[in-house]
Amino acid sequence: MNMTETSQWKEITSYAKELKNKRIIDLFDENRMNEFSHELNNIYFDYSKNKIDQPLLDLFIKMAKELNLQQGIEDMFSGKKINTTEKRAVLHTALRAPEDQIIKVDGQNIIPLIHNANKKIENFTRKVISGEWKGTTGKSITDIVNIGIGGSELGPKMVVHALKDYRNHLKIHYLSNIDPFQLDHLLTEIDLETTLFVIVSKSFSTQETLTNAESVQKLYIKKYGKDAIAKHFATVSTQIEKAKNFGIAENNIFPMWDWVGGRFSLWSPAGISIPLAIGFENFKKLLEGAYLTDRHFKEKEFKENLPFLGAITSIIYNNLLGYETEAYIPYSEKLKYLPDFLQQLLMESNGKSINKNGRKVSYQTGNILWGNPGTNAQHSFFQLLHQGTKMVPLNFIAEKINRSTAFPMQHRMLLSNMIAQSEALLKGEANENPYKNFEGNRPSTIMLLDEITPSALGSLLAYFEHLTFVEGYLWDINSFDQFGVELGKKTAAHILESLEHKKIDRIHDDSTNQLLQRVMKD
Ligand code: F6P
Repeated sequence: MNMTETSQWKEITSYAKELKNKRIIDLFDENRMNEFSHELNNIYFDYSKNKIDQPLLDLFIKMAKELNLQQGIEDMFSGKKINTTEKRAVLHTALRAPEDQIIKVDGQNIIPLIHNANKKIENFTRKVISGEWKGTTGKSITDIVNIGIGGSELGPKMVVHALKDYRNHLKIHYLSNIDPFQLDHLLTEIDLETTLFVIVSKSFSTQETLTNAESVQKLYIKKYGKDAIAKHFATVSTQIEKAKNFGIAENNIFPMWDWVGGRFSLWSPAGISIPLAIGFENFKKLLEGAYLTDRHFKEKEFKENLPFLGAITSIIYNNLLGYETEAYIPYSEKLKYLPDFLQQLLMESNGKSINKNGRKVSYQTGNILWGNPGTNAQHSFFQLLHQGTKMVPLNFIAEKINRSTAFPMQHRMLLSNMIAQSEALLKGEANENPYKNFEGNRPSTIMLLDEITPSALGSLLAYFEHLTFVEGYLWDINSFDQFGVELGKKTAAHILESLEHKKIDRIHDDSTNQLLQRVMKD
């Protein structure tokens, strides 16, 4: 059953229609801030500037109960194989569970696996950070290159950038694109002698990752011989044999598990660049922060359950009011990669049109998500957000205190801009000159962290993960597979074959044929 089949749905739709014509500002009464603002691990969430009110929330809560959402949450946490198309459990939450918990997959408690892997990672990162780990010429490591793409890059890269204040001396780079421009450029920035490459690939079969890794491996073999590989390469994968065949020393192979999806994997060994950058103790705090959100999500009633509230505000816009996109605007350069991470998390998870029973859905699913940091965004696309014909709900994210800056006044200016934008979007400003008139009534959610610490960041990211789950659950889709990326990969392999052999041996459309001929011409 999906949300449109519940007994509440009709009422929800007609109520939302009424709400569409109301002004958000008129929804404010003496209870609104209590009902629609909450705190979790020093993060303040404010949903009050959204097109939601208590009666609509109550209807959604009834709907969630009818759909047994609480049981769905239990099922995920306890390791039920809710990724039905791939027959897998979905247990990124186990990665941050305390050591004394028991969570079983196919009868085996996975908690010891996680903690053993973490011990191995702790040991490895300590050696690299302390300089004990030596490269092939006896020098300590100065640079780390994470070779990985999608979930094997976006989460760790975003976290490592956000936690710059916690970083050690190691320089961390991310090599992801098949575009050799990235590799060429990287090679101008690093010295192979003092660089450690970590190949992160759950499947160990991703074209971009393997090709980049092979290119770098060849450089080492040519320059230093085969033995250098054991000193300069480590890997994280579920495919231990494939990694060994690639030539990675067994000691340098860290596990991944099929019950962790790539886009949910920053907490696993796939996030190895995080403890390398900020030390294992800080990585543990990130996990602890995520665990606080896990408990919140499992235990709090829906009326104050943050991932639930976040998910239903999106659903109101997506399914009831017809707003097709949502913007995430971090007012923090530290969080500049957050929109990229969220795009994969939400759009790869919920960009589906077939429900859990294999039938085409008759309603909207995954919303389009985009964004860039403020204040820069104000000077590019905010014109459209204030006066355009499209309605784009916003999500503002910022930190209250930036302890590390030498320019605290600038930080206050940054925050004042964010607060001002959310108020201006809400209220607008009447002007008799139509060009200068601001209608307002444009929704936004605010997430204000006291500070971007490992713990608070962990809590925030787990919030987005659970929000993704709730949306997928209510839409009755499997948020945990990604078959939609396969056709492009397969087609690219055929096209490459044509390009390499300068021969078109398949039937293409005219446009593709002409393009191929153009690319093949000397
Ligand atoms: O192509 C999509 C995808 O499978 C993502 O889901 C994943 O995060 C990424 O590719 C990388 O996959 P892997 O870690 O297996 O190399």
